[in-house]
Amino acid sequence: MTENTFPTPGTFTLITDVRPYGEGEPVNVLLDGGVIAEMDHTVDKSRTYHQRIDGRGAVLLPGLVDMHVHLREPGREDTETIVTGSQAAALGGFTAVFTMANTQPVTDQPVIADSVWHKGRAAGLCDVHPVGSITKGLKGETLTEFGMMTRGDAQVRMFSDDGRCVNDPLVMRRAVEYAAGLDVLLAQHAEEHRLTEGAVAHEGENAARLGLRGWPRVAEESIVARDILMTRDYGGRMHICHASTAGSAELLRWAKSQGVKISAEVTPHHLLLTDAKLDTYDGVYRVNPPLREDSDTAALRQALLDGTIDVVATDHAPHGSEDKCVEFDQAKPGMLGLETSLAVIAEIFVKPGLADWRFVAKVMSERPAEITRLADHGRPLAVGEPANLTLVDDDHTWTVDGTQLASKSENTPYEGMTYSTRVAATLLRGRVTARDGVAENPLSE
Ligand code: DOR
Ligand code: ZN
Repeated sequence: MTENTFPTPGTFTLITDVRPYGEGEPVNVLLDGGVIAEMDHTVDKSRTYHQRIDGRGAVLLPGLVDMHVHLREPGREDTETIVTGSQAAALGGFTAVFTMANTQPVTDQPVIADSVWHKGRAAGLCDVHPVGSITKGLKGETLTEFGMMTRGDAQVRMFSDDGRCVNDPLVMRRAVEYAAGLDVLLAQHAEEHRLTEGAVAHEGENAARLGLRGWPRVAEESIVARDILMTRDYGGRMHICHASTAGSAELLRWAKSQGVKISAEVTPHHLLLTDAKLDTYDGVYRVNPPLREDSDTAALRQALLDGTIDVVATDHAPHGSEDKCVEFDQAKPGMLGLETSLAVIAEIFVKPGLADWRFVAKVMSERPAEITRLADHGRPLAVGEPANLTLVDDDHTWTVDGTQLASKSENTPYEGMTYSTRVAATLLRGRVTARDGVAENPLSE
């Protein structure tokens, strides 16, 4: 694979007929290399450009940033690779993603983090930032060398044992103090494992009726509460992964009212789907934390709208059919998310008029870039800013088909669902990474 090239200064790209944040009259955008050079109605369309993109009235957003994906490399390249995951990201409108440390081997050393980073650079479709694990081998016992990982090529800036919770309160306290000293972000997968042994579904009426072992809300909320207090008392920056309950939202609301520096994410699936889906016993609906109830999805939507929950993150978790098309309690937890998230969020918030595209830009680009301190992403759409851009066609009907996704796996919980929003094009530093449903193929260059 050759190193991918990006447009250099003096290489001009013209994007015509786009509406920044979906507002006002369409404008034309001129890119000089990887930077927005002009943005108005007067850009001279008759000149020659290296590249022209007809925006066809698309909504223009800053490139999306996903704080939580699993690209499965190293170790499970049969289910996803950095290349296929980057293609899925580009098709979903993402220009940067953070890939979790529960790889095989675990990303608990600089050499592994740096290898992920370099493979992402070589693919050149999306900035792939490796997350370092908090503890060695995700065992929850011994802290990894955060400092060394921050100083490698990957400049790791987020640490998480995601997939597992750092349960031991003393280990977590040490992690919080260590992370505070280095000013890196800790992302907690909140799950009191003693309360979820053998659990496969939300503890409630549906699980009881279906004979599935329940995963109670308190298993998540007790850790969210504990870690809010840890952050209050020991400082640093903490992030709560995939909040799934109304109670977690309440705890976060309280934390923010007290000035605790904590942020949180919610996934599209926890905003849209509930455990009513489990009636079919289809393993595709097994996810960790589990799909909850209507009262939870309603509270999570409200929390995202009012800023209590900061961002949408997909928790894109590819699994092969041998791990999904099996008995429900044998299925591995996890769902695909990169290629469907924007459509799902638009369907929940924008189409019914609950929020506008500025809100989408905030929760899917600006806040995630701010929380993870990415200087070149989530920036305003303005002259002089980096050309990390997503064009959204908000009037394009399509039906989700797992076999057609760029991801190597097919475990989408949205199979057969119809959406009216699609990513028309994604640009990373001025380079088109996906267009009209087709991603660049870095292996063919
Ligand atoms: O459903 C999940 N799948 N939740 C996690 O926390 C981990 C993830 C995975 O790695 O498959
Ligand atoms: Zn995850």
